[in-house]
Amino acid sequence: MSKQGLVLEKVVLLGRTFEEYVLYFALDPEALRGRSVLDVASGVSSFCAEANAQDIHATAFDLIYDSSPDEIQSRCEPDLDQVTRNIALAKTYKWDFYQSPEGMRRYRERAYRAFLADYRTQRGARYVAGNLPRLPFADGQFDITLTSYLLFVYEHRFDYKFHKRSVLEMMRVTRDEARCYPIVTFEASRSSYIDRLQSDPDLGHLTFEQVRTDFEFLIGSNFFLRIRHRAGAK
Ligand SMILES: C[S@@+](CC[C@H](N)C(=O)[O-])C[C@H]1O[C@@H](n2cnc3c(N)ncnc32)[C@H](O)[C@@H]1O
Repeated sequence: MSKQGLVLEKVVLLGRTFEEYVLYFALDPEALRGRSVLDVASGVSSFCAEANAQDIHATAFDLIYDSSPDEIQSRCEPDLDQVTRNIALAKTYKWDFYQSPEGMRRYRERAYRAFLADYRTQRGARYVAGNLPRLPFADGQFDITLTSYLLFVYEHRFDYKFHKRSVLEMMRVTRDEARCYPIVTFEASRSSYIDRLQSDPDLGHLTFEQVRTDFEFLIGSNFFLRIRHRAGAK
């Protein structure tokens, strides 16, 4: 069957804003004040910058944070051009929120510009470089961990073992809960890894819940996956 969705040659360097994260993960910014939040595979998202500006203690983690701001900047625009062009051809999106590819592009530009401004001054403080499925953080270091647009959606690029190890590692560093978004692939199909994770005996100490939200851009993206430590589990 031919592809209906967004076709990407690689994991792209695209960033979302704080506003979009709030919608994706149904976050309550007030409730996050003073809490520690890890954003895994944060890339050029402005979530971390904007969160810290409102007293949410956010840390961003991504493999690109060993690059300089100028190097990252030079990669943003070509990736954004490519996605803006290709997304217009995909049949797997609902445009109620962004209205058009150009409308989406404005959000992505806002995100990466705010990210770069913060990264230039806070690189050593709240931007941590590394490579999933390893996280260079202590057990239970964060209250909440988020990951947007890496797990599940790119299931054709990362195998089940990568997903499983990433989830285990995210939960190792998380006291309260992790949220993963979206749970569909770019073809708008629910990721086959969700059921495997839920029935995997190595993850029996965790609980998985699909939570519906009001926000849907990629078809079927109106859900996030909530992962918690099972009560009584070590
Ligand atoms: C599509 S972007 C999503 C960025 C951000 N989470 C958002 O939603 O705006 C995917 C990000 O995953 C990062 N990434 C890919 N593989 C990774 C890995 N193994 N470890 C850490 N980050 C990775 C890329 O560098 C990129 O910044």
